[in-house]
Amino acid sequence: MDPPAVLRLAHLSDVHLAPMPRVRPSLLLGKRLLGWLSWTLRRRHLHRRAVLDAVVADMRRQAPDHVLVTGDLVNISLPEEYAQAARWLAELAPPERVLLVPGNHDAYVAGAAEAGWIRWAPWMGGENGGGAAFPWLRRLGAAAVLGLSTAVPTPPGYASGRLGEEQLRGLERRLRQLAAEGLFRIVLLHHPPLPVSRPRKALEDREAFCAVIRSAGAELVLSGHEHRFHEGRLAGPDGPVPAFVAPSASLLEERPEKRGGYLLFQIGRRSGGWRVTVRLRRHRPTGTGLEDTLEREIDLPRATGAATAGCVAGGVP
Ligand SMILES: [Fe+2]
Repeated sequence: MDPPAVLRLAHLSDVHLAPMPRVRPSLLLGKRLLGWLSWTLRRRHLHRRAVLDAVVADMRRQAPDHVLVTGDLVNISLPEEYAQAARWLAELAPPERVLLVPGNHDAYVAGAAEAGWIRWAPWMGGENGGGAAFPWLRRLGAAAVLGLSTAVPTPPGYASGRLGEEQLRGLERRLRQLAAEGLFRIVLLHHPPLPVSRPRKALEDREAFCAVIRSAGAELVLSGHEHRFHEGRLAGPDGPVPAFVAPSASLLEERPEKRGGYLLFQIGRRSGGWRVTVRLRRHRPTGTGLEDTLEREIDLPRATGAATAGCVAGGVP
């Protein structure tokens, strides 16, 4: 018999909200101009509001306790895009049930995020205050979520991310605190800590992030950015730490590996630890709603805080 569920979570990523709001020509400079051209010529045909709306409708029917969103809500960080995304978040679920970290498209050009993220404070602020203080922490009963920002402006042609030493130090400190409290620790970040991204798209300090997980541990690491599902394991002090990369929630794609969808997690207790059930729900090729395309059941031990060596412990299928 399954253990009683303590928490049911949905994980959406790379929303890339459409339609693009009307753009003042004075805002279309440098990287933003290139991004606007890319959206107008290509990406608007790929990231479809109808695909996203079907994902959200399906997710609501699954009735998760909380929704985790790992960034790229917008496309070129226009002021009106932040406002549009705030309206979308408000309709998604009550603020106390939605947790958000930003992606590279949410900090597309220098200076945009400082003004735009203020609108997202109700979803990005944890117990350590509202706004863009990372890592934020939110306790959800037997679990705790730590939200990181990897979103930094990059030159045209780049979509890389960076955490920085201060954020990594804060992450390690909080992971240790939460282990001592016996909580199921979930880490959210937009850029995957798995070796799946090309260098110009990768998390620059991935090795340093892996070193923190190796030392302090976590029970689940969730990200997006790649617009396709990946799964892997990071080395942790008590054994491998599962890491999942969600597909884009809005992508209209024929290829099964990139079809739009989201992840569902059920976290339950078991003797000596946790049982996590993972489901990947994606659009059917026939366009008739979503279906389960993968299910995993993972048993994890309760954290002890011991030390171990090695960064990436498992391959990526
Ligand atoms: Fe991204």
